[in-house]
Amino acid sequence: MAQKTWVRMVTAQTPTNIAVIKYWGKRDETLILPVNDSISVTLDPAHLCTITTVAVSPSFDQDRMWLNGKEISLSGGRYQNCLREIRARACEVEDKEKGIKIAKNDWEKLHVHVASYNNFPTAAGLASSAAGFACLVFALAKLMKAKEDNSELSAIARQGSGSACRSLFGGFVKWIMGKAEDGSDSLAVQLVDEKHWDELVIIIAVVSSRQKETSSTTGMRDSVETSLLLQHRAKEVVPKRIKQMEEAIKNRDFGSFAQLTCADSNQFHAVCLDTCPPIFYMNDTSHRQVKFLVSCQCASHSRSSSKFYMKCDDTKMVAYTFDAGPNAVLIAHNRKAATQLLQKLLFCFPPSSDADLNSYVIGDKSILKDAG
Ligand code: DP6
Repeated sequence: MAQKTWVRMVTAQTPTNIAVIKYWGKRDETLILPVNDSISVTLDPAHLCTITTVAVSPSFDQDRMWLNGKEISLSGGRYQNCLREIRARACEVEDKEKGIKIAKNDWEKLHVHVASYNNFPTAAGLASSAAGFACLVFALAKLMKAKEDNSELSAIARQGSGSACRSLFGGFVKWIMGKAEDGSDSLAVQLVDEKHWDELVIIIAVVSSRQKETSSTTGMRDSVETSLLLQHRAKEVVPKRIKQMEEAIKNRDFGSFAQLTCADSNQFHAVCLDTCPPIFYMNDTSHRQVKFLVSCQCASHSRSSSKFYMKCDDTKMVAYTFDAGPNAVLIAHNRKAATQLLQKLLFCFPPSSDADLNSYVIGDKSILKDAG
């Protein structure tokens, strides 16, 4: 570290992910260890992603971070945990052209600057923290030449925000809850890559881009403390659903996929209502959308059938899921179905600035293999 003038920079882009089997509830709040496994689909980064540049220089006198152009504090435990974990894995870096040589031990003394941008509303229930922490960890690992693979990095991103661990991969991703007390086996694995089932199309109905009133962290803490339904869900329901969902994804069985996705979203919001005080992430527009989607799906089904989504006409099938916010994430099984759905949505829920619905974002599953 002879010269004082150099700056080493790395930029990464990471897509967000949407859970089709939800993570809701922690068994350890510091390490961010969940009460159940979860499965998500990674979105096309062109529409919802975070771009983060990390820089290191001997002239920086403290760690600093800017989010969407505004400086934010890095003092929070979650940022500190991610920084500490990556620093502990940092390796020697040498760039002869720029005259940079950083020994392994130097990383403890050097400070980083981080600039991060979301190309979508932050903290509005569109998984901004997932893309944000995954991108931060991935970029820092590249900057410091950490040798860990993406699953190992996912266990670090998890300590920033639980859902972030799933954004280190494209395609369909499973976050294994793990058993170890230190969280070492609570990490993400890729179930199938982005080429598998690439005809799926995702439409996000942005009902509100306002920040949610109850953060996921607070909401899930209250649910763990007060909801009996959450305990039943984590122990009895999710383990079975995870297996069924893995099968549905492997076999590209859209009927089962849609049924499981909708049922899991409904149960997650039922847990929110079962929480004291109750949490309302969906609003009237979200509920009207569910009614509308069910009516599209049900045009030809018999209500008594348990395989209700299977019986629907293929072009009418759509999976819906809502995270911790009112925005609907809709998954259509191909472009034709998505186009028909969008036409109906635009007619029944036209976007406008002063009304119930802001806009629609349309994207494929992630085209990225990994973050980066
Ligand atoms: C409803 O990952 O945002 O989106 O771990 O406290 O940061 P923290 O929570 P976060 O929760 C996401 C919850 C969810 C479901 C999911 O993505 O699985």
